[in-house]
Amino acid sequence: MLYSLAPMEGITGYTFRRVHAECFGALDRYYTPFLPPPRVGSPFGGKNLKEIDPVNNQGLNVVPQLLTKNADEFVWAARELAELGYGEVNLNLGCPSGTVVSKGKGSGFLRDPDALEAFLRDVCERSALPVSVKTRLGLEDDSEYGRILELYCTLPLAELIVHPRVQKDRYQGKPRWEPYGKTLERAPFPVAYNGDIFGTGDMDALAEAHPRTRHVMLGRGLLANPALARMLAGGLAASADELRQFHDKLFHAYVDEIGGNAVFRMKEWWFYAKCAFADPMAVHRTVRKVRKINEYEVAVEKVFNTQSLAAVARFSG
Ligand SMILES: Cc1cc2nc3c(=O)[nH]c(=O)nc-3n(C[C@H](O)[C@H](O)[C@H](O)COP(=O)(O)O)c2cc1C
Repeated sequence: MLYSLAPMEGITGYTFRRVHAECFGALDRYYTPFLPPPRVGSPFGGKNLKEIDPVNNQGLNVVPQLLTKNADEFVWAARELAELGYGEVNLNLGCPSGTVVSKGKGSGFLRDPDALEAFLRDVCERSALPVSVKTRLGLEDDSEYGRILELYCTLPLAELIVHPRVQKDRYQGKPRWEPYGKTLERAPFPVAYNGDIFGTGDMDALAEAHPRTRHVMLGRGLLANPALARMLAGGLAASADELRQFHDKLFHAYVDEIGGNAVFRMKEWWFYAKCAFADPMAVHRTVRKVRKINEYEVAVEKVFNTQSLAAVARFSG
């Protein structure tokens, strides 16, 4: 089984990927949070360049993800990424955010299958890199997926990653496994599964229901339990020492990168990481109000000194 880390804007950037791999071993693949392509003729710049700079991604198998509906910009960005040494580019057709959807991007692109078809045919033909897609099933109802899957199946995709929810589900409700199964049956290219794999029981159930599953992308589950991929491969849960070391490395790396804003970045992580503790609400209360680095350090000391780990770390919303 292949395990990859989901793209998560604001969380699974290059620093997180590097520190996580150092502490828990590298996953098979990592996807960058979505990047807007630069204007045609311009290189990637600023924080987007840092995200894909090979120096920041050494030793990891990273697939950059683009969020766009502009074929020329996609093709241009793919060329830039090929020059940086990447081997695949991923298109985001899943983002459910209102501002993205209203511009017809992310899952909003699924509303217009004709435009999506023209875009995908064009970029698959002209892209310097193989194109993979991360998709939802539609916007309102999973019946929309029939036409979308038909379309995907006519294209030379490198891979199709299915997050089997519709846009209006956001990240709630049970993922719809049946359309994922249909994708496994029909697709002439590799398929990956993503959604609510939070523990070994979830993985066992998925493998039993869909034994042809070959690649699972982990998101919130791995943030709540950084040893999740290791456990899915038969390894041990994270010890308290491992969790502490991971936290400290991550925090110091963020301080080096963004100074005092590291506190806010870490609070995003704690939203998930609190689930590694027996009393997530107590952890939440301890870290939620801190603003400054010294306050943060005191709060974290308190968490690690007073809170015990959960029997099984598991994302719980
Ligand atoms: C805070 C947050 C940011 C996300 N950012 C992205 C993104 O940049 N690109 C993307 O394709 N999906 C993004 N996602 C969706 C995740 O990649 C993944 O599909 C989702 O969390 C479901 O998988 P999980 O149940 O394993 O967490 C994001 C999700 C969250 C909660």
